Formats: sequence, C-alpha cells, structure tokens
Amino acid sequence: MNCLTNGILAAVGLVVSTEVLAMDELHKKYACTACHADSKKLVGPAYQDVADKYREAYKKDPMATTAKVAAKVKAGGSGVYGPVPMPPHGHVPEADVQKMVRAVLDMPSSKK
Ligand code: HEC
Repeated sequence: MNCLTNGILAAVGLVVSTEVLAMDELHKKYACTACHADSKKLVGPAYQDVADKYREAYKKDPMATTAKVAAKVKAGGSGVYGPVPMPPHGHVPEADVQKMVRAVLDMPSSKK
C-alpha cells in the first residue's frame, strides 16, 4: 500500500469516527458536562431549561436560534440564568458547537 492510500484511509477513518461520536460524547469531550446536566442545574443551567427557554423560537426559526445559542456558547457570558458566567469556548470547532446546541434544543420538555 502506498502512502497516498494510507493517507486517504486515515482521513476516511477520522471522518467516520467523528461522525459516530454521540452527542453525549461531544459534551464530555469538551467538558461541558462539568457544568451542565440534562435535567439538573449544576454550575450552568440544566440543558432542559435551555431547551424550554428557546422552544418557541427554535420551532419558528431553527437555524437562527441554533446560531444565536451557538454564538453564546463560543463567546461565553452571564446574566441569562444567573450571575455565574459561562467561560468562552472559542477553541471548539463551529460544527461541534452547532451539533451540541442542536442536541440541547431538540430535548423534549421537562414540563408535561
Ligand atoms: C464553567 C462552567 C461551564 C462550562 C464548562 C460550560 N458551561 Fe454552558 N453555561 C454555564 C453557565 C453558568 C451558563 C449560564 C450563563 C448565563 O446565565 O447567561 C451556561 C449557559 C449555556 C447555554 C445556554 C446559553 C443561552 O444563550 O441560553 C448553553 C446552550 C450551554 N451553556 C452549553 C454549553 C456547552 C455546549 C458547553 C461545552 C462546550 C458548555 N456549556 C460549557 C456554565 C458552563
């Protein structure tokens, strides 16, 4: 096998392995789970509370709402859920931020 083939196989392997990474894995990979859980407030708000907050906006305009929340995750900030700030996550690739934000916004309501 020549170098080129090896390179291509390696690249394909990379793409496949990141694609099958579950949402939970991404949240763990970027240590979001240190401050966030699905249904319980830790340092940051429960993901379900975030989903509830944006439910209407997300239904109306999923793209814009995802972009807005993704921008907040990247830039960090405080004041929406309390005085504790979320640190900026500028190092996390945009595609991964969007995937994680969509996973959060897609969560079913905690209130029946
Ligand atoms: C050091 C703790 C901490 C870490 C790490 C952290 N967050 Fe947060 N997060 C917070 C806090 C605190 C808030 C609430 C900020 C506010 O009140 O405005 C928040 C808010 C959010 C929101 C809601 C934003 C909004 O506009 O409503 C989302 C979504 C979110 N975090 C996702 C993530 C993701 C994804 C990661 C990993 C890349 C992450 N967080 C890592 C503490 C953290």
